Amino acid sequence: MKDPVLVIGGSGKVGRYFAKAFRKLQPKQPIAIGGRDLAKAKAAAEESDLAEAVRVDLARSDLGLPEGKKYSAVVVLLKDDTLNTMKYAQANGLPYVSFSDWFFDIGPEVALYVHAPKRAPVLFLGHAHGGTVTLATLHFAREFRTIESIDIGVVADERDSGGPAAKVDMDRLGGAVSRPPILKNGQWLWAGEDDANRRFTGADGREWQGRALPLLDVASLAAATDAKSVRIDYALRAGDGLSHESILEIAGTKKDGSTGRFRYALVDAVSHSETSARGVAFAVERLLGLAGGPEVAAGLYHPESLLDPGYVVERMQEFGTRIER
Ligand SMILES: NC(=O)c1ccc[n+]([C@@H]2O[C@H](COP(=O)([O-])OP(=O)(O)OC[C@H]3O[C@@H](n4cnc5c(N)ncnc54)[C@H](OP(=O)(O)O)[C@@H]3O)[C@@H](O)[C@H]2O)c1
Repeated sequence: MKDPVLVIGGSGKVGRYFAKAFRKLQPKQPIAIGGRDLAKAKAAAEESDLAEAVRVDLARSDLGLPEGKKYSAVVVLLKDDTLNTMKYAQANGLPYVSFSDWFFDIGPEVALYVHAPKRAPVLFLGHAHGGTVTLATLHFAREFRTIESIDIGVVADERDSGGPAAKVDMDRLGGAVSRPPILKNGQWLWAGEDDANRRFTGADGREWQGRALPLLDVASLAAATDAKSVRIDYALRAGDGLSHESILEIAGTKKDGSTGRFRYALVDAVSHSETSARGVAFAVERLLGLAGGPEVAAGLYHPESLLDPGYVVERMQEFGTRIER
């Protein structure tokens, strides 16, 4: 097996679910759970086989890691505003997963990648639910000959807000949520009030008022399809437990000649932290070459440039995601 996967933020909400999902996919691959609080990291490591704990200091270029210790990948489950984690991954030629970037956050990471494009594979995974929503959309998009638009509506519980690191990311949204990016009729725009809101129908027929979010899914789906309009909207509900659903609406012409607007729903009975962690697990096993192909070469990746949508949808269903058409 390879050196441990360093999971910085592995003792948080998403991190603990990541360890579970990854262990299910890869029972023999060690992981190292990193955070500021070593006791918390140790407690998380004890919940999993083949897991060790390590204290991480983002202010240091060596991240404060034990000297001489080797890792096989660096997965960062928090917004590292020093980018020392990415520099460390590049310096050591290790695959890097960035999980907490909004659409408007990625500039400095793109620049680091452009500066040293041959050093390491860098995966942007700030997408909804760890890339699984985009990958599932692309799975269903394969049924189409041409696609006019992709509208995604996510309904989540208002209590399903993640830990303190997730709050930092929501706070950073600030004004960006009032002008979210969407692709509309072939044009990128920072949506004003007329465009930022969208009503959509949930899996059980209930109507929701959603608001577009600056998630990387919009960029990925616009790049990977010929859709002229792409957006992703979130609505919050109260009192339904931690379940959540994503409604994928694709308008276009199917390969069988039928045209119209087709709906697919991904329904999960667990928190969005848990589904998102599964997305990270799919990405990490792929990056390491433990599933879906050999080790991934240096490059800049989005989930759809790395993972097979069909593989991910199958695994999602095994993990409990219900798919409705
Ligand atoms: N892309 C997606 O699909 C998606 C979905 C859900 C969440 N997220 C993002 O994932 C991140 C984690 O969310 P969460 O709910 O798991 O948050 P959380 O419960 O607060 O977990 C944060 C983790 O990061 C560690 N940490 C925080 N600050 C640190 C620092 N300065 N240095 C080293 N370690 C640090 C924490 O441990 P210590 O306190 O011990 O340091 C903990 O292990 C958030 O950024 C959230 O927005 C992304």
